[in-house]
Amino acid sequence: MTTSGAASDLQVFADRQALMDAAAERVVTAAAQAIADHGGFTWALAGGSTPRELYSLLAGSAWVGRIDWSKVEFFWTDERCVPPDDVQSNYRMARETLLDTIRPAPAQVHRMRGEHEPERAAADYAEELTRALPIGRRRAPGAPPCFDLVLLGMGADGHTASLFPGSSALDERSRWVVPVEPAPGAPWRLTLTLPVLNAANQVSFLVAGAAKRDRLAQVWQAPPAPDAAALPAARVRPRSGHLVWLLDADAGAFRERRSP
Ligand code: 6PG
Repeated sequence: MTTSGAASDLQVFADRQALMDAAAERVVTAAAQAIADHGGFTWALAGGSTPRELYSLLAGSAWVGRIDWSKVEFFWTDERCVPPDDVQSNYRMARETLLDTIRPAPAQVHRMRGEHEPERAAADYAEELTRALPIGRRRAPGAPPCFDLVLLGMGADGHTASLFPGSSALDERSRWVVPVEPAPGAPWRLTLTLPVLNAANQVSFLVAGAAKRDRLAQVWQAPPAPDAAALPAARVRPRSGHLVWLLDADAGAFRERRSP
């Protein structure tokens, strides 16, 4: 079921397997289009638990042959400030579920250095984006890098990447990568900022489960002006790219909720 809003689509699937199959098909299609268009596919991966299933699916025999992995450049939307072998690491999750199978060349894997001091790691990653996403892949000199695909999840509080409600990182307009402290005492994180997320050619949200329903209703009722939206996920509105929300039925049931 697809409904379209302002340059965005909402697609709801009967169950998680159908959701993951649809998400895998979007990655395959986006990769083929990017490789045909400019010889490579720059993909910013989401962290968290939902995408685990997608990455494992893409590494499986039914899908792994459908992408020319030698042309894929892997990036991350955010990372926890932990070593790469830490169980909390988004890189480790992607390595275990996908990269260990497809074995890309090290130069294809652009990992956020969660093990480094956060400010330095954020600055280093912004420099890596400059090197790895050549000027031709941006809409103007100095403009944010333009990923072919940004994959995002959404937390039950409406956060996305590591952009949390009320965070000053939501108002960042010049830096492309910033360190954030999600909550006092919580492990620091690194995150791409909204200018980068909204420069993408395509953004796909992958959201599953009833726990996300209330926030999805809020996202869908958010004001048209992205900056006026309270929830970080509602502020992701690619300026000229395509936005699609891929939901399972449990999450998609938010549309049946009656406002009180
Ligand atoms: C992270 C993710 C984060 C995630 C949401 C949803 O590092 O945790 O980038 O933004 O996408 O928290 O997580 P789940 O998929 O586990 O619900």
